[in-house]
Amino acid sequence: MEEIEQLRRRWLARIAEADGADALEAVRVAALGKKGEISLRMRELGRMTPEERQSAGPALNALKDEIDAALKARKAALDDAALEARLAEEWLDVTLPARPRPRGTVHPVSQVMEELTAIFADMGFAVAEGPQIETDWHNFDALNIPPEHPARQEHDTFFMHRAEGDNRPPHVLRTHTSPVQIRAMQAQGAPLRVIAPGRVYRMDMDQTHTPMFHQVEGLAVDREISMAQLKWTLEEFCRAFFEVETVELRFRASHFPFTEPSAEVDIRCSWADGQLRIGEGEDWMEILGSGMVHPRVLEAGGIDPAAWQGFAFGMGIDRIAMLKYGIPDLRAFFESDLRWLRHYGFAALDRPDLAGGLSR
Ligand code: DAH
Repeated sequence: MEEIEQLRRRWLARIAEADGADALEAVRVAALGKKGEISLRMRELGRMTPEERQSAGPALNALKDEIDAALKARKAALDDAALEARLAEEWLDVTLPARPRPRGTVHPVSQVMEELTAIFADMGFAVAEGPQIETDWHNFDALNIPPEHPARQEHDTFFMHRAEGDNRPPHVLRTHTSPVQIRAMQAQGAPLRVIAPGRVYRMDMDQTHTPMFHQVEGLAVDREISMAQLKWTLEEFCRAFFEVETVELRFRASHFPFTEPSAEVDIRCSWADGQLRIGEGEDWMEILGSGMVHPRVLEAGGIDPAAWQGFAFGMGIDRIAMLKYGIPDLRAFFESDLRWLRHYGFAALDRPDLAGGLSR
């Protein structure tokens, strides 16, 4: 019996030491294989006396079972360890690392252009464009502002140089987006509905003026276009843009050479506690000029004023951006101060749309 106990210890130790599938298989063959030590011992039972066999038989059988079980347990443990090792080695990170927030921001002017483009697109207006270096004719004459017209002086125009001896009127940096009306009519004919946001230039610089600023022009031409439709369009725009349910607009008779009749439009607001609120209060703030397109302007655009009519409006983008987002100083818009841009800028990937909200 002593001998069986030694056998047991030796084989269990060898099993425990086997450090891989091959080593373990070698141990199994050496113990339980045809010529394995335990198998040989079992065979020896046949040569024993019945008494010897009676005590050695069950002990050997039990040892064989125990070794068999130990082999199986060791095999399972080695398999688990091999799988663990493989998993660790072949591990693939399928998660995305957190990306740093983009540091760039969308300038409030760009944001507002996107916003108003979304609003007017919803009302069927396409975006039209024109050059910033414009002909004198598109910027003035075609808009019913002939050379001697006093409105020319009011525009503080930047003129481009002409070559010596070239007596044609010089090109100008466009003083408003209205010339895009002419270009859109010439390019598309009637009916049409466009807005034209963009840069304009005037020789002017103080707290509320910069030599370059932004306007958006609107133009709708059709068989029967009325002042009432102009009013509705502007009210809808203001409601959507300022994100308030009630807006009240006031149309004041005015004069622009390119519209007849003309109106300047004020929006109801309050300045209580130095904070501007749109749609309530007793104050009025001018936000745009508008009117029914002058027949001569339709003609200059190649459209028959006897058959078509239209409304137009022009609005300062920087100004409505300041109003909506509470930005006090216009000049800061164009100083490219990073701190200002980070403070007033908009997240780069949030595109304004009517369904998702304009200014999240
Ligand atoms: N062009 C004008 C300006 O710069 C604004 C304007 C007024 C545009 C009336 C229009 C309009 O289309 O109908 O002051």
